[in-house]
Parts: sequence; C-alpha cells; structure tokens
Amino acid sequence: MKKKNKINSIAVLCSGGDAPGMNAAIRAVVRTAVFNGVHVKGVMRGYEGLIDGDFIDMDSTSVSNIIQLGGTILKSARSKRFQSENGMKEAHEQLVRHNIGGVVLIGGNGSLTGAKNFTTRFKIPWIAIPKTIDNDLYGTDYCIGYDTALNTAMQAIDKIKDTAGSHNRLFFVEVMGRDAGFIALQTGIASGAEAILVPEAGMDTNQLIRQLDKGWTRKKSSMIVIVAEGNPEGGAFKIAKKVKEKFNHYEIGVCVLGHIQRGGSPTCLDRVLASELGVRAVEALLDDRKNVMVGEIHKETVYTTFQKAISHRLSFDKSLLATLDKLSV
Ligand code: F6P
Repeated sequence: MKKKNKINSIAVLCSGGDAPGMNAAIRAVVRTAVFNGVHVKGVMRGYEGLIDGDFIDMDSTSVSNIIQLGGTILKSARSKRFQSENGMKEAHEQLVRHNIGGVVLIGGNGSLTGAKNFTTRFKIPWIAIPKTIDNDLYGTDYCIGYDTALNTAMQAIDKIKDTAGSHNRLFFVEVMGRDAGFIALQTGIASGAEAILVPEAGMDTNQLIRQLDKGWTRKKSSMIVIVAEGNPEGGAFKIAKKVKEKFNHYEIGVCVLGHIQRGGSPTCLDRVLASELGVRAVEALLDDRKNVMVGEIHKETVYTTFQKAISHRLSFDKSLLATLDKLSV
C-alpha cells in the first residue's frame, strides 16, 4: 500500500488479561509492517514495559510458528503506573527515545481506557485491536479470544454434564466475563443448560427454583445452571447455597471454570480474525488513521473511537434467554 505519512517504525504491545489469538495478532502486525518496509519493536509486559523501555526488535522470523499458540510471546500486564500522569509521561518518553511513529495496542476495555487517556495528551497515533474473552467492547462483533473461550467453556461444561448425569447431581458452573454475560449466554445455550444467570437479566433465587422445579417435575436426572461471574445475586457458590436451602432434590456440585477459559490454542475463527485485524491495524496507521479501534461488523471493517468502544456495548441478545427457556422444558 502507498503510505500517507512518514511512519518508519511502530511498536506493538499486549495489555490486560491475555486471550487466545494474541500471538496471531502480533504475527499479523509484524509481518504487515515488514511487508510495508516498516520497523517493528515489540513492547514486553504491556504498559509496564512501555514505561520501563522494555522493547525488543522484531522481524518476520520473530513471529514464526506462533499463530497456533495461546498466551502472548510479548507477555501482558495490568498496569497501575500507566494510570498516572507520570507513568504516561515516561511511556511517551520511551516511545520518542525509540523513534516510534505509531503504536498498535492489542487490548481490552481497561487497556483502551489507558490508550484514550494517553492519546488525548500526546501526538503519537495509536490503533487498537480488540481482544478480550469477555467480548465487552463496542465496534466489533467478535473480540479476539472470545470464540476460543466459548469453546473451552463449552467443552468443560460438556464434561461436567457427563459426571452430573452419572451421579444425578445439579451443577452450578461459573464462567468468566467480568460484568458481561456473553460467555454465560452462549455456552448455556450450547451446552443445553437448564438456566443461565447473567448481569444483563436479573433472575432471583425464587425464579431460578421455579425453573429447576420444572426439571424435577419432569424427572430430569441432572441439571446444569450457568452463572456469569458478574451475576448481581452472587457467584456459583453463593447461588448454590441459596438454592440448597429451598430446593434439595439433588446433590449439588459447584465448578468455577476460572482461568482455563483464557488459555489454549486459538480456534480457527480467532486466528483468522486476529490475522485480519492485525493487517488492518498496521494499514490504518500507514493510512494516517489515529486513535481508533479496528473491528469487524458483519464482515466489514469498522473504526471506532476509543471512547465509544469502551463506553458502549454490543446489545445483549435476550431472545436467546427465551430460547433457553423453551429448550430446557
Ligand atoms: O477480562 C478478562 C477476564 O478474564 C475477566 O473475564 C475476568 O473477570 C478477569 O479478566 C480476571 O482477571 P485476572 O486474570 O487479572 O484475575
């Protein structure tokens, strides 16, 4: 592509909780830069490494054979220091010292907030690539890592269903998502759960018990309830305890899936999405775009301001909750 500016050197960093597909995105960023004759520095440990000047030179071979790997070769961090004026100033000095003309951030909600704060103070242009298993950024249908996390959680729930069925147990499975219920909703439908508790649709214990009662009446031998970690009534252990007080037809089990949802080899969807967004992020910088997140909606490339990406959210598909009600009779 024909460059619209004089950017000769860019930096790429990963920030926040890791997500499968980050390595595929790093690979795409580095290779697209090399393809366009632009130097790339990898920043280790997210904003922490940016402040400390922990930069490494990268070329095509530095990203060989990583597309299939979970985690991130650049490592990631949640940085308190970057939230301060001083931290941002030091990070800016490091970028200037290393002659960086543009930054590609692979980050989620908190990291984009940092990017927004930084870019309102300093001139170096940034482009963000959305990654988070929570899928809670506006401006893209899918964030990198979400699809892999869904499949990991679904497979784990399938396994819990096997043992729940063998022992006639009622299981409460807690999935991640911070204050969003997207993982719970999708995996609940996909695993044939009896109920889903999400922050977006309050279901109190009495409603839940009515739902479980239907299964008991129908002589279901086991049941599964998916609890989003951000459920306002509490996590899986708390809900299980409340239910047990009033509904004791089954032996109860609880499983918190936790960080296994963040690991593993990315799915095909995540690898392709990460590759596409990595290419588009670098091309956006060279095309003189600045301070936007690059996403994909209905297969179209969409650029969203950092402010909008963090302050809005994809609408929660409540019709899927109705679908679950119909299918769990
Ligand atoms: O944002 C991704 C996420 O995995 C959330 O689902 C979860 O609430 C949080 O990060 C956990 O963060 P940490 O790894 O710092 O415990």
